[in-house]
Amino acid sequence: MYKYSVSILGTGFIGLCSAACFADKNIKVLASTHNEKKANMINDGKAPFYEADLQEMMDDIKANKPELLQCLLDPVKAVLETDISMITQGTPMREDKSINLGYIESTAREIGKALKQKESYHLVVVRSTVVPGTTRNLVGKLITEVSGKIPGRDFGLCMQPEFLAEGSSVSDTLHPDRIIIGAFDERSGDLLQEFYEYFYGDHLQNCPILRMNLESAELVKYGNNCLLSTKISYANEFANFAQLVPNVDIIQVMKGVGLDYRINSRFLQAGVGFGGSCFHKDVNAIKAWSKSKGYTSRLLEAVLGINDDQAIKIVDIAEELAGKLAGKRVTLLGLSFKPGTDDMREAPSIRVVNELIKRGITNIIGYDPKAKETAKIEFGDRIEYADTIEEALKDSECAILITEWNEFKTLKPEDFMKNMKEPNVIDGRRLFDYEEFDNAMPFRAIGRINLD
Ligand code: UDX
Repeated sequence: MYKYSVSILGTGFIGLCSAACFADKNIKVLASTHNEKKANMINDGKAPFYEADLQEMMDDIKANKPELLQCLLDPVKAVLETDISMITQGTPMREDKSINLGYIESTAREIGKALKQKESYHLVVVRSTVVPGTTRNLVGKLITEVSGKIPGRDFGLCMQPEFLAEGSSVSDTLHPDRIIIGAFDERSGDLLQEFYEYFYGDHLQNCPILRMNLESAELVKYGNNCLLSTKISYANEFANFAQLVPNVDIIQVMKGVGLDYRINSRFLQAGVGFGGSCFHKDVNAIKAWSKSKGYTSRLLEAVLGINDDQAIKIVDIAEELAGKLAGKRVTLLGLSFKPGTDDMREAPSIRVVNELIKRGITNIIGYDPKAKETAKIEFGDRIEYADTIEEALKDSECAILITEWNEFKTLKPEDFMKNMKEPNVIDGRRLFDYEEFDNAMPFRAIGRINLD
């Protein structure tokens, strides 16, 4: 017998990383998905997507305690055979940019079907990012509607937002900086807190647990992602200011700003803008939600607008340096939304390619150390794909660095000069040594312009 058994409903980054980390600490996990291929992979001990440290952890579980992590195709069975259920389904963006709660709704119904057959008390925890009111008014009410069971009496209800970032999901799960527990009632919150006290043990000495109601917890997650996005757009706005004044460097400016202990220097790196599966989706979702309640957010509108415009700015900079680019060959270095992943969701490279094509620039070649296949799904034949940096630079008349992969860090001006037809280089992530590149070749970078 295990002290805890948990069903994890949804096997994306949050779901599978939690499932593996729980199983690793001797908690019995029944994950569930409707995707047969994914379920088979998980049951074979294979991670269905790339994420640092996840495969190693799954190998270890498969070798030493395979019974602790199983994936079912039947969520009702998974709920019935466990004491706690966590909803970790995606909450994608609708066409009108509001939140799509379809997967949350169907999962709540499945939990309801299971609880109808279950005698004992069961704790339901929403871990997906959902707009305020969803846990109580959608999840809680649907479970009651389908099962006839009453929250607080027959089942517990919590909302615990998840803050993990891609590329560090496992380590973020194991070392959170705080745990937010939104609870329907005290009993639900106590049960979840006890679970995490068991799971984290000593780590909790440096990790506060914050208790609040369901809606506050739902809003904390948006608060985080909106503030981080705002910091990035703020840094990009100042990068645009910096470009108005010769010899000002945004890196030094943001370093100076970030040393204020009230601010801190993280997420102040100017560049081609933010991408990824969360920032765009979540900022848009809470903006649409507040509008539906009669409040229009001006701040978030600006955050998204500045982010979108960075793609226009970088093409402007490229054309200022290299002249009109229509008819010329342009290289994009890095296509994924950030280094360390092949994820192309909302990647800035998409906005840059759209802007180039809009200006009649169609001779584009991209290189990415990991994202070639996912980029092909995104761009199709609108761009060419290189297998090496040299191939990407060959005959090119302008190279734009979009994603700061480690392997680009070692590039020197000579690498561009010997491979390109016209060596014009634009650093969209401030990866290169500005002085070295500016002295050696036609060079521009986000957030700095030197007087010749
Ligand atoms: C983010 C949040 O960090 C995480 O807490 C949340 O749960 C999900 O969303 P993720 O999207 O995986 O995680 O990546 P993150 O490392 O936060 O970067 C997001 C984007 O912002 C990337 O495109 C990155 O290049 C960009 N970024 C980040 C900047 O442009 N400047 C910065 O200073 C930091």
